[in-house]
Amino acid sequence: SDVSNQTTLIDDSAYVKVLAESSTLKSVPSQFAYATNDSKGSYSDSIPIIDFSLITCADSEQRSKALKDLARACEEWGFFVLINHGIPETVMKNIIDASLEFFELPEEEKRRYEPRSASDPIKSGTGSVLNVANQRIHLWRDYVKSYVHPEFHSPHKPQILREIVAEYSERSRPVLRSLLQAISENLGLEQGYIDDVLKLDSCFQLYAANYYPPCPEPDQAIGIPPHTDHGLLTFLIHNGVAGLQIQHNGKWFNTNSPQNSILVNTADHLEIFSNGRYKSVKHRAVVNSEATRISVVIANGPAPDVIVNPAAPLVERDDGRALYLPMKFIEYVETMLSNRLEGKGNLECLK
Ligand code: SIN
Ligand code: FE2
Repeated sequence: SDVSNQTTLIDDSAYVKVLAESSTLKSVPSQFAYATNDSKGSYSDSIPIIDFSLITCADSEQRSKALKDLARACEEWGFFVLINHGIPETVMKNIIDASLEFFELPEEEKRRYEPRSASDPIKSGTGSVLNVANQRIHLWRDYVKSYVHPEFHSPHKPQILREIVAEYSERSRPVLRSLLQAISENLGLEQGYIDDVLKLDSCFQLYAANYYPPCPEPDQAIGIPPHTDHGLLTFLIHNGVAGLQIQHNGKWFNTNSPQNSILVNTADHLEIFSNGRYKSVKHRAVVNSEATRISVVIANGPAPDVIVNPAAPLVERDDGRALYLPMKFIEYVETMLSNRLEGKGNLECLK
């Protein structure tokens, strides 16, 4: 057959950044082909906004209203925009800038962190997934990830990245724990229940930065295909270029975020722990032809060694029916990171 008009195959491990910077690139190489006919999403100004200062405030009337709003956001959307969280704007800006600096390092420096095993604490590269037809789809993004808590790991360069990742993760932990206290109450549990049982003193935190260069045909490629996250709550910030979409009532919604806010989504272990009361929200990252997008994610989970079960009091209320099997948290994370099947989360295996 005539293959002369097929796009040249690219090297499997080539950074998308390098590819996108080659000025001759006018179309998406075939290995990236992933049609998102609906990539524009639907706009909505009804995406919940949660004011963190009200969740932690002393006025009980304001607080209980904020908790109700939070409960609705978790039940109906699995997603909310967190404002007034108290993390300084400079910290948020610096972590975006330092993450960008990482991607701009010489290639050999980044290649030090090429993943060899799922349990490597620092990883960097580009990546692919297998779709339902067993075809390998390359993703239009480069990434760097590291485990930052309870053990701290970070790329060694740039030096500023190490410092800022440590600071951002440290400042985000009290925000995480206060949100989970409120969520505990909303689930009808003691305020400290989640914190105690899931050992949040030693909560697992993973830093991930994603680099999505401009794409010549944004509808023909995907940054990250639909998935749910491991952990309890994911915190996401970005450089002001949109791209995160969440699934709500079967449709894709663009997310927008006011200056200095954090996008928060519910993840698999909140679904498991709540025995299905809160669902882990499906989301994806789409790309655009105009500007480079950077996102910085902190995935927050229980302590690595905790075996996560649906919470006993909630199972009791469900006539003793636990809807998910128990699994050690870090095992869940590492099987998920090594099993790159599109749309097939670990969660499915525990039901
Ligand atoms: C992710 O889902 O891990 C990142 C999505 C994004 O970059 O917006
Ligand atoms: Fe995600």
